[in-house]
Amino acid sequence: MIHLGVNIDHVATVRQARRGAQPEVIHAAALAVLGGADSITIHLREDRRHIQDRDLRLLREVATVPLNLEMAATEEMTAIAIASLPACVTLVPEKREELTTEGGLDVVTHQNAIGQCLKALKAHGVAVSLFIDPDARQVEMARFLGADTIELQTGSYSEAINAADREARLADLKTAARLARQCGLRVHAGHGLDYHNVQAVAAIADIVELNIGHSIISRAILVGMVEAVRAMKHAMVEGRRG
Ligand code: PXP
Repeated sequence: MIHLGVNIDHVATVRQARRGAQPEVIHAAALAVLGGADSITIHLREDRRHIQDRDLRLLREVATVPLNLEMAATEEMTAIAIASLPACVTLVPEKREELTTEGGLDVVTHQNAIGQCLKALKAHGVAVSLFIDPDARQVEMARFLGADTIELQTGSYSEAINAADREARLADLKTAARLARQCGLRVHAGHGLDYHNVQAVAAIADIVELNIGHSIISRAILVGMVEAVRAMKHAMVEGRRG
């Protein structure tokens, strides 16, 4: 069995374009669950460019599936996670200038900061996942630090430049997933997965969950377009009629 975690950050990106009230992130979460999402993922970034603290509060109240909070391993975020107690926290690298998360967390270099954050979260019963590259040293350090889960970074696979590169990146994912499973870690994967490249990753039996955002929200905008324009046209015609 393989679970789907739907990342709804882009819904908040559209809302923040006007700093207004719509679209409402909790509505998107409810509809994603209706579509079959097994969990909902949000990334509360330090600069609050999309998801806001209020979104986290509301989702904790109303979400009917587990909430996975992506965040940087900072004191501020650790305190927020402990106050809100999501089912899972995924620690990710964060740089202000990046468009999205670029590459996995280097848990070998940053083992002290990550270890501290991980311990604090686990002491409060929050499961911790580390978003890492498919690399044996990173997997082994994740186990050493006491992570429950790793999320393998699939960006290198999804951005492969040709078929040989794609196969090589897929082999990296398989090897890392197998090692992680042997270490007793739960294995998730994500980043850049879409309707065409997801199949090969979903076929890796050691991976139990995929986290997908951009491709799903992109398609949602388009498949909802006909209905949204129709409803607006209807409202206009009604108004003209008086
Ligand atoms: N997993 C992690 C850790 C991420 O940071 C992201 C992007 O926010 C995703 C998965 C989803 O990536 P995408 O939006 O490309 O599907």
